Amino acid sequence: MAPLASVQGQVKALFSRALKDAFPSVEQEVLVTKGNPKFGDYQCNNAMVIFREHGSVLGFESPLSVAEAIRSSLPSNDLLGDISVAPQGFVTVRLSSQWLSRQVSECFLSGELSYSKVPRKRVVVDYSSPNIAKEMHVGHLRPTILGESIRRVLEFSGHEVHGLNHVGDWGTQFGMLIEYMKEAYPNFQKELPDVHDLQEFYKASKKRFDEDPDFKSRAQRAVVDLQAGDDFAHSAWQKICDVSRRSFEKIYQRLDISIEERGESFYNAMIPPLVDELKLRKICQESAGAMCIFTPSVSTYPLMVIKSDGGFGYDSTDLAAIYHRLLVMRADWIVYVTDLGQEQHFHMIFDAAEQAGWHRPPLTRCDHMGFGVVQGEDKKRLKTRSGDTVKLSDLLDEAVQRAAFEVRKRVEEQQKEGGEAFLTDPKEQMEAAERLGIAAVRYFDMKQNRTSNYVFNWDRMLDPKGNSAVFLFYAYARIRSIQRKAEASGAGGAGGPSSFHVEVIDPAERDLAMKLVQFPDVIETILGDLHLHHLTDYLWELCNILTTFYVKCKVLGEEAQDSRLLLCEATRKVMLKGFELLGFVQTFVN
Ligand code: ARG
Repeated sequence: MAPLASVQGQVKALFSRALKDAFPSVEQEVLVTKGNPKFGDYQCNNAMVIFREHGSVLGFESPLSVAEAIRSSLPSNDLLGDISVAPQGFVTVRLSSQWLSRQVSECFLSGELSYSKVPRKRVVVDYSSPNIAKEMHVGHLRPTILGESIRRVLEFSGHEVHGLNHVGDWGTQFGMLIEYMKEAYPNFQKELPDVHDLQEFYKASKKRFDEDPDFKSRAQRAVVDLQAGDDFAHSAWQKICDVSRRSFEKIYQRLDISIEERGESFYNAMIPPLVDELKLRKICQESAGAMCIFTPSVSTYPLMVIKSDGGFGYDSTDLAAIYHRLLVMRADWIVYVTDLGQEQHFHMIFDAAEQAGWHRPPLTRCDHMGFGVVQGEDKKRLKTRSGDTVKLSDLLDEAVQRAAFEVRKRVEEQQKEGGEAFLTDPKEQMEAAERLGIAAVRYFDMKQNRTSNYVFNWDRMLDPKGNSAVFLFYAYARIRSIQRKAEASGAGGAGGPSSFHVEVIDPAERDLAMKLVQFPDVIETILGDLHLHHLTDYLWELCNILTTFYVKCKVLGEEAQDSRLLLCEATRKVMLKGFELLGFVQTFVN
């Protein structure tokens, strides 16, 4: 199958050629946007600017005459159909129906959808990144699911992606954890303690640390031992990490997260030589007993390469990490997925890396993909009824329970209507609920503008009629049901007839085809601004256009049946790809 290509990009390329031909002396960025559907699919907005800035020199009387010149310089092509020029100077184009039908036939029907960006970049996505010995809570939902989706979008775009879990597995708190483990689980060397509740483990060790001076000094010694590579301290530390890892792993499995753990400890030994280099090159300087890097991003405080107590902290580790990623891994692009509270920290890290010459924009790209807080109805951080932090596993369980209710309701409705019997087996129902519940949480999160806080709302999340994963799943199920009926009647179903010829005649067919071919543009936009809601918006609009298509264009039993079935199949494939990118673990219908 031919790979997908950005439509807007192709339209832009044609206008770029036209502008160069018509106005060789004018350097211009090509301004092509989606058009008002009444007039066309895309429009070029350059004529107004050219007229304003160069009109008199070039001898044009109006933007309209500039626009005419652009139109007549468009190279011959098979992409554009109608081209019109508005009096204000917009050049508006409609894609040709032949091109649309060929595009759907060639790029959306046989084989896997594919999109390959050239040049292929090596990208590191730093995401999820919980802290060892603490339970994953609602605050880890966004860095985990947003990170996983952006990683999938980058992979789909053909890039080489390394998803790294920068877990907090190093620091002074490990002294108390090691000492506490020695006390509470004396047998830990042989048997890994089964810590049901990591949070309790952490709290209990902190309590001992605060209350018992003897414990405290032992804990402090344990940190020194650990730093010095002492065998016992090291193996105790490893056990603690293992226990945590197991509990993270359960969540990652449910959310289908494939990430490589490369925690803070990985960078520890790299810090001292790096600091020496930065000192030598005068990139860092002493200030109030600490070693600091002052950066243009933040004027009020510096980045701490060495803290005033002589130790290395979060900043030191992130400096070593960015060094390792850019210079050792040779990444072209790094995306850090954390809450917006850490935005300044990362901008300082990017500045420092630039000052050190490791980060060389635009050759290398560093992004902080920040996000807001998940709130309760009271607009405060989401909490349990008793005011505790919501554990991520509990949140997922509740999603699944609520989805199970929705699934049962749906099955009953279908049975009442005498429709196809599906999901009648309770075990199947529970599996479906697991996928649907988690997809609903993900979709609801990703449809928000990630930089805003949002209020967590179960009803809206699982609303079968609203903009929710449930609605999308039902739309998908409807396509499958039409396909099954077609198969039963012997017509081309999902496999399609041997020739993939799609006719785009009715306006509703055209709208659907148009939306489909715009899928790569959505990916392109996400690669630009790392906002995943473009994809959820797109899928929601696609489903609405599909609904109109069903109303206007009957599929089964019509003369256009084969072509319409193909349009349905192309839509199904795009939806499925969208689901995959959003991290949904398969749909529950097949
Ligand atoms: N563990 C950190 C936290 O819980 C997030 C780490 C993000 N990644 C990084 N390279 N600093 O806040």
